[in-house]
Amino acid sequence: MQTNKLICRLGAIGSLAIVSFTSTIVSADYPNVESGPVFDERGRLLQPSNFREGVFIGAPLTPHALNDGKAGFPEFHNVYVDRAAYRHFQRTGEWPEGTVLVKELQLVKKGTFDDGSRLEASGRGYFPDEPNGLDVSVKDSRRFAATDGWGFFNFGHHAPPYASAAEVAPAEACAACHQANAHDDMVFSDFYRQLTPLPTPAMP
Ligand code: HEC
Repeated sequence: MQTNKLICRLGAIGSLAIVSFTSTIVSADYPNVESGPVFDERGRLLQPSNFREGVFIGAPLTPHALNDGKAGFPEFHNVYVDRAAYRHFQRTGEWPEGTVLVKELQLVKKGTFDDGSRLEASGRGYFPDEPNGLDVSVKDSRRFAATDGWGFFNFGHHAPPYASAAEVAPAEACAACHQANAHDDMVFSDFYRQLTPLPTPAMP
C-alpha cells in the first residue's frame, strides 16, 4: 500500500514536471494551450507529434461515391485539438492563441457495393482504414495577421510518415475557403458537436 502510494506520488510529480517542462518550451505567447505550435528558424511548423492524445472533436466524411468518384478528400476527416484549447473554447467560446487543429485523413475501407459501402456486423456503411494525410491550422493573430489570425499547413496527403515540417500554405490554397465558408473564427465548429459539453447526468 505504502509503496503503491509512493509510486503514485512519484508518477504525479513526474507528469507535473513533464507538463511544466513542455509548457515552458512551448512558448510564453500561448499561455492557454498545453501543446502549442512549434516553428523552426525558417518559420516552418514542425509536425504536431502527439495530436492523437488531444481531444477528438469530429470526423466529417466526403466519400468518392457521393462525389462522382472524384472527392478531393475521400477519407474520414478526423479532427483533434489540444485539451487545454478545448477547455478554453468550452469556457469562452473562443479559440486561444496557439490553438492547433489537426485534421488527419483516414481511408475508407474498400467497398463491396457500387456506392463504396460494405457490410459489417453493425450494418452497411463506410468503415475506417489506414491513416492517409495530415492538415493543420494554427491560431496566431500576429504571425498570421494577413489571413485573419490562422495559418494553414499541409504535411502530405499519403500514408504516414508525414512531413516533419511544413511551410505555411498560400492563402488561396487553404485560408481563403475557410474565410469564406467557416463562420466561427474560420473553424467549421458546426461539425464538431463534441465541443458542446454533455449535460450533467440526473442523479439516479
Ligand atoms: C474548398 C474549401 C476548403 C479548402 C480549400 C481547405 N479547407 Fe480545410 N476544411 C474545409 C471544410 C468544409 C472543413 C470541415 C469539414 C470537412 O472536414 O469536410 C475543413 C476542415 C479543416 C480542418 C479542421 C478544423 C476546421 O477548421 O474545421 C483543418 C485543420 C483544415 N481544414 C485545414 C486545411 C488546410 C491545411 C488546407 C489547405 C492545404 C485546407 N484546409 C483547405 C474546407 C476547405
